[in-house]
Amino acid sequence: MSLKIPEHVAIIMDGNGRWARKRGLPRIAGHYKGAEVAEDIVEFAIELGIKHLTLFAFSTENWNRPKEEVEALFELLRRYLQTKKDKLYKLGIRVRFIGRRDRINKELVKLMQEIEEESKKFKNLFLNLAVDYGGRDDILRAVKKAVKLQREEITEELFSSLLDLSCSPDPDLLIRTAGEKRISNFLLWNLAYTELYFSETLWPDFSREEFLKALEDFSRRKRKFGRVLDE
Ligand code: IPE
Ligand code: IPE
Ligand code: MG
Repeated sequence: MSLKIPEHVAIIMDGNGRWARKRGLPRIAGHYKGAEVAEDIVEFAIELGIKHLTLFAFSTENWNRPKEEVEALFELLRRYLQTKKDKLYKLGIRVRFIGRRDRINKELVKLMQEIEEESKKFKNLFLNLAVDYGGRDDILRAVKKAVKLQREEITEELFSSLLDLSCSPDPDLLIRTAGEKRISNFLLWNLAYTELYFSETLWPDFSREEFLKALEDFSRRKRKFGRVLDE
């Protein structure tokens, strides 16, 4: 069977903490290994011709973790963006951040804006990084914009354009690692017709082979969108 390449893949990168615990390491060590894996999957996505990739890095609920872990996660993000931004540009990646900005450190927000601005001209891959992102929060912020419009104007298409992911089509495939079978407040509106794939592998152990397995599974799916398929 030939491999169908989805236009947009979204990933809930889960299992960093369990990966570290299994090794007797602090949870943050799992996050660092997870960031390396994310970097490799981004490169692989370009090689495969995937156009949009959305990665869940920090949820609106992740603020409820211990302060040290939250701080370490943002420090990891800051360091990663600072040291990898030139590589992202070299690879021709357009980066966008989805989620709230108002609870994130101002210096980090500045760096995020700089990267969005600098990478605007690139189009090898649209990389959406979900930071302080929650699906309900995304919808609520869109509703607050929508109430200023005329009732008749508010169609599904228009409402979609008010959401954070307005510049990417809905994901074709969602991958969640580490065995949990839930959405955890990720892209609630945009996942309406997305194919779901769950892997038992912890994110720091995820690999190109595992990613290919998900794509092979996706290639066998019959997407119907509510219709009857001609057999
Ligand atoms: C995913 O790994 C990364 C984030 C949510 C930031 P976890 O930290 O949730 O790992 P587990 O689920 O505890 O193993
Ligand atoms: C979802 O993972 C958020 C990210 C991967 C960033 P969580 O580990 O926070 O989700 P739950 O708590 O298991 O639902
Ligand atoms: Mg988790």
